[in-house]
Amino acid sequence: MKVLVVGNGGREHAIVWKLAQSKKVEKLYCARGNAGTLKLAENIDIDPTDIKALADFAQREGIDFTVVGPEAPLVAGLADEFEARGLKVFGPSRRASMLEGSKVFAKRFMQKYGVPTANFEVFEDPVKAKRFIKDFGMPVVIKADGLASGKGVFVCHTLEEAHQAIDRLMVQKSLGEAGSRVVIEEFLSGEEASYIVMLNGEEYVPLPTSQDHKRLLDGDKGPNTGGMGAYSPNPFVGEEVEKAIKERIIERLIKGLREEGIHYRGFLYAGLMLTEEGPKVLEFNVRLGDPEAQPLLMRIRGDFLQTLLDFYEGRRVSLDFDPRCALCVVLASRGYPEKPEDGKPIEGLEVLEAEENLVVFHAGTILKEGKVYTKGGRVLNVCAWGESLQEARERAYRAIEKIRFEGMQYRRDIGMRALRAGF
Ligand code: AMP
Ligand code: GLY
Repeated sequence: MKVLVVGNGGREHAIVWKLAQSKKVEKLYCARGNAGTLKLAENIDIDPTDIKALADFAQREGIDFTVVGPEAPLVAGLADEFEARGLKVFGPSRRASMLEGSKVFAKRFMQKYGVPTANFEVFEDPVKAKRFIKDFGMPVVIKADGLASGKGVFVCHTLEEAHQAIDRLMVQKSLGEAGSRVVIEEFLSGEEASYIVMLNGEEYVPLPTSQDHKRLLDGDKGPNTGGMGAYSPNPFVGEEVEKAIKERIIERLIKGLREEGIHYRGFLYAGLMLTEEGPKVLEFNVRLGDPEAQPLLMRIRGDFLQTLLDFYEGRRVSLDFDPRCALCVVLASRGYPEKPEDGKPIEGLEVLEAEENLVVFHAGTILKEGKVYTKGGRVLNVCAWGESLQEARERAYRAIEKIRFEGMQYRRDIGMRALRAGF
């Protein structure tokens, strides 16, 4: 089979890596890919959001199956376009992708169908928004309605911070139209969990659990990012918690989709806060998480392309997970997430190729005249397996010592929340 993966990040390298292990694959393509996907797939120079060009390419090359990594092409209607042309694609329609494309849509959907989430209000006017938070109490969370690559959420501890966030989004329009409407919501505390399932209409299959690290700096300080590291499984999601997630969140969401007449086929990601009152949804994403996909796919056994095809066609599938832990540390460029630097040569990658129980997924990298350079904010994902979380963590951090590029930054505490909690 010919398979196309859409996207350029660490998640897409991990998807390509996993699919490349399938016996069914005759040829893999990745649009646009990076210096990592290049080794396993043919990189195609088409922008992931150029839907028409991608569909033309898929038709011309006779692509049998397409897997979409990021949200932007889905929100823009990639799946609709492919399906209209009879091309098989794993990813939800434009309408279903509103669950991620608009936080206002997602919050109202959850409210309507009883999916637990933080209490909230929606504002289109900065003056009214400021009036509202005056009596709301701190901390308060302010979120841009539209897509912002994980950078549209502000957790504010003072009124001043909250005013700044509102001004930034609604007055200075730092995210353009994405911030012209905002959700203001109650602050939730607890452990976070990423719960991702494959969903096809009424059928769903959970993938391994994971925990992301959203903040830039150690100790969960600094601004929100796309994610600075992740590990799987997430030990905070025990049997009871998982039962609650399925019953109160996933199954209620599925019921809502049915009632709204929305067919959903693709990955669905629930970003959760495990509060004292039970799991609550922070956000839905219509795709695999990045970096969560990296450790998660490292733990899925068997032919994942076959699994996806079977699931797509409506056949029953069950997944087998590697019981070991997998942990991923993101190496980012200086300046990320605001203004990442580009074009720095990367040293040490070859040394790690022979290392056991370790895999380095590329994100913002490019190959030029035989040498790998940085290109973008999140550059590499150093990922390791271990019999325990501690072992995976030590292996990943040992490997990082061998990698170097100017301005490289990463968190030193990936996995520590679970270890400190005694897991
Ligand atoms: P989101 O993109 O909505 O998942 O938000 C990004 C990150 O901001 C989350 O992973 C949390 O760390 C934090 N966050 C979002 N909403 C809340 C909330 N209501 N309470 C506490 N933290 C939140
Ligand atoms: N790592 C969080 C996300 O992919 O949205």
